[in-house]
Formats: sequence, structure tokens, C-alpha cells
Amino acid sequence: MNISVIGAGYVGLVSAVCFAELGHTVIGVDNNPEKLLALDEGKVPIHENLLPELLQRHLGHRLTFSSSISHAVRESDVIFITVGTPQSATGHADLGYVEAVTREIAKHITSMKLIVEKSTVPVRTSDAIRRTMTLNGASPRLFSVASNPEFLREGSAVTDFLYPDRIVIGVEDSFSEERLREIYSPLCDGSYYRREDLIPGCGASAAHFIVTNTNSAELIKHTSNAFLAMKISFMNAIANIAERVGGDVDQIREGVGADRRIGTSFLNAGIGYGGSCFPKDVLAFRAVAREVGYDFDLLDAVMRINKDQRHQFLRKVRDALWTLRDKRIAVFGLAFKAGTDDVRESPAIEIVEALVNEGCLITAYDPVAMPRALSELGLRVGENTVRMASDPYIAAEDVDAVLILTEWNEFASLDLPRLHSQMRLPVVIDGRNLYRPEVMEAAGFVYYSVGRAA
Ligand code: NAD
Ligand code: UGA
Repeated sequence: MNISVIGAGYVGLVSAVCFAELGHTVIGVDNNPEKLLALDEGKVPIHENLLPELLQRHLGHRLTFSSSISHAVRESDVIFITVGTPQSATGHADLGYVEAVTREIAKHITSMKLIVEKSTVPVRTSDAIRRTMTLNGASPRLFSVASNPEFLREGSAVTDFLYPDRIVIGVEDSFSEERLREIYSPLCDGSYYRREDLIPGCGASAAHFIVTNTNSAELIKHTSNAFLAMKISFMNAIANIAERVGGDVDQIREGVGADRRIGTSFLNAGIGYGGSCFPKDVLAFRAVAREVGYDFDLLDAVMRINKDQRHQFLRKVRDALWTLRDKRIAVFGLAFKAGTDDVRESPAIEIVEALVNEGCLITAYDPVAMPRALSELGLRVGENTVRMASDPYIAAEDVDAVLILTEWNEFASLDLPRLHSQMRLPVVIDGRNLYRPEVMEAAGFVYYSVGRAA
């Protein structure tokens, strides 16, 4: 199948590379010239496991990049839209990029195409795409619009794409369903796993292929993200209760999660969810519900608990260090989660910003996110306010406390005696519960974590 993917960001680039891996001919389109230059040279502009290897495998063969939507429309049967849908000032999703791409497609369409929205969008966006196509001169006989929400996570994006639990498509006609079935067939009939299997054995059970109408598919995406965010906030609320009464959130998670109806995933208490999706999508879904006349105030509580979790953590830092002005603090982790260099809406960045504003001197280390974090922090608190270190032990030299803010594996296996010897005071405040309290106490640390007695 000839496919184009418009918007070569976290979702679009992974999708383009993985569609090529599934045997399709793919044009990745972006309007950022620097990104295109890097991609044409085989350089992946983001940190994502396995993406460089797959890009190398397909670039110049089944996969090419272009800045031209007209070229992409001409050369492909199916056009995926994967541009950003950021939060607008009103809390709604800003659909300006989706609209701009739709208008551009409408201008160039001359034969039958399937347009697929893969960006996360509010319900009824596919109707708006249809309307916009026609308004901009495209004949309704020349296109169909379908929804195919994406569920990949950053940090495991390639394997999430190639080994999904489910593929959801929202369609209004059999033409769209047939094309999308064909595109994803190697993941649903198991043939990809027999042929190329990136991780042998991982695709033992083929993906569920779920066909709905477009409105339901759009709602499935918002529902999934809101539900996952709710699980995290729920557990953060439990952690706050456990802390106050001497419970242990790890034990609670195990005890609750053993019930197969609940499960243990997405129940890790911490410093609250971040990233470019959960925060904006929960807010956007809240706005959608309000607009259709339903007061989904459960989502307000999810967002409030999430925000408060940062404050709870800062309160712990104050409890541990008393006053903050001129305190030296090492921060381990700046990315919003492990496995990525993405710092968009990272709780770690928010916490660093708050500590800088209270007069702390911060030295930070993250295995891959330091360049992006530096520019983000530069914008928020000014350049040179935070020093970056080349490893965690250098970051910890002579500090009053270490804060663990991202759950990178390397922070879970630190050389504890070495860390201890570097620090001025042996205080560790762990926002990701990477250690058992008794282990840290035995190593001589004063250890604070989330949802467990200090
Ligand atoms: P991103 O900002 O990383 O990428 C968007 C890309 O689109 C950028 O490279 C930008 O240059 C390009 N672009 C914007 N306007 C364009 C235009 N007119 N023509 C060509 N290219 C254009 O965004 P992302 O994180 O990949 O997210 C994209 C969408 O997917 C969002 O709706 C997001 O909610 C959703 N989503 C994201 C993830 C994730 O993990 N990041 C997962 C699932 C769904
Ligand atoms: C999330 C969803 O997991 C994906 O299915 C979805 O496709 C994507 O959003 C999206 O729509 O963009 P992502 O944001 O990449 O993926 O990463 P997650 O692993 O979901 O983590 C999100 C945030 O929640 C991170 O800050 C993470 O640290 C936090 N988290 C996650 C917790 O605090 N506790 C947990 O148990 C799990």
C-alpha cells in the first residue's frame, strides 16, 4: 500500500517507520526543514529505542521524507494525519494544524484517497475534516475519512506500535475498513511476527482489530487516556492516605492489583503524570463533555490530585531541608518518564522550576533529556540557573539532597556507598519509589518516598 504520514513527530515518525517495516511504501511529510534534513541523513531527531535501527533499515527504500503535501497526496492511497493537537488557551484541543493539513490535502486531491486522523482529537473531528475537505473544493466522491487513534507510549513507541494490544479503526464505509485492514493485516494475522519479528515471541498473540464508527473511535482515545490518568491519580490519592497512617503504597498496589479486574499497571504512585498527552487530553475531554452538556467532574478531581502531587513532593523537600534558599540539590531525571528525551509537561521540570524560584542551587543529570531540558528551563527560569552534570555522582557532589524525578533504570541501581560519600548530607527524596526504604536506611540515607512512611 502507498501511504503518507503528515507530521513526522513522536507519533508520525514512529508510524512512518513502522508502516515501512510492515512492507508498505511510505512518504513521511513534515514542514520543519531541520527535522527533514536530519531524517534524510538517517538521523532520528528524538530519543526512542529501536527507531534509529528501523530508520536505517528502510530509509531510501520503502521510506522517504518530503516537505510537500501535494507530492504525498499524489503518490499515496492512504494519508495519515499525525500533526500536534496541543492545548489551547481555553483547554480545548487546538485543531489548527489538523485543519491546515486538511485544507492542503483538499487542494491537491485528484483521485480517490483515504484520509485517516491518527492525531488525538475530540469526538466529531472527522466530521469537521469531511466538511473542510468539501468546503475547500474536494469532491466527496474523491475521499473517505477514518479515525485510527494511536496508543503508543514514548519510550516504548516502536514495540507498542508493532505489538499492540488492539488496533482501533473508526469508519463510515467498507472502502475505509478494507484499506485499514490491509495496512494492519501483518499485525492481525500474525504474518509480521513470523516474518520479521523484532522481538521474537512478543507477537505470540496477534492484535485485536476493533472496528467502530468514527465518533466511537475518537471517544475511545480520549476515554483510554482519561482512564489511565485516573488510575494514576487514584493511586496517588491512596499514597497520600497511606503516608499519613503508616501504610505502604507498594504493598497496597500488590494487594489490589492481584485482582485481575484491577491489575497492577498504571498504579505507580509518584509525582503525578506529565507528558504531552495525559495533561492536555484529560483537559480536552473535560471540555468536550461540558460542550455536549455533561458535567464530567470526575476529571476535575483527576487533574487536581495530579497537580497537588507536585506540591506534596515539594512539601517533602521542605520538610527534609527546612529552609530552601541556597540549598544545593541534585536532581536525577528531567524527562517526563524514562526512555525518552521528551520534557513537555515534565513534572521534573516543574519541580526544578519551583525549587529555583525558592533559591535552591540545582545540579541535574538525565541520561538523554538534558539538551531539551536546558532549553525548556532557559525559557522558564533563565539560562544558567541550573547546572547539568555528566553523571549522577558528579551531580551529587556536596549536595544537601538528591531528588529522584524520573524512573530511569540507572537510578534504580546506583552505587549507594559512592553516592553517599559524594553528598554533604545523605538525604534522598525519591519521587518514583525506586528503592525500598529499609535498603536506603541500611545504606545510611535519610530517605523519603511516596506513599510510604518516611
Ligand atoms: P509532535 O509535536 O512531536 O509532532 C508533530 C509534527 O507535525 C511536528 O514534527 C511538526 O513539525 C509537524 N507539523 C505540524 N504542522 C504541519 C504541517 N502543516 N505539515 C507538515 N507537518 C506539520 O507531536 P506528537 O507527540 O507526535 O503528537 C501528534 C499527535 O499524536 C497529537 O495529537 C498527540 O496527542 C497524539 N499522540 C501522541 C503520542 C505521543 O506519545 N507523543 C501518542 C499517541 C497519540
Ligand atoms: C500515554 C499513554 O500511555 C499512551 O497509551 C498514549 O498513546 C499516549 O499517552 C498519548 O496519547 O500520547 P505516554 O504519555 O507516552 O503515553 O507515557 P505513559 O507511560 O503513559 O506515562 C505518562 C505519565 O504518567 C508519565 O509522566 C509517567 O511517569 C506517569 N505514570 C505512568 C505514573 O506516574 N504512574 C504510572 O503508573 C504510569
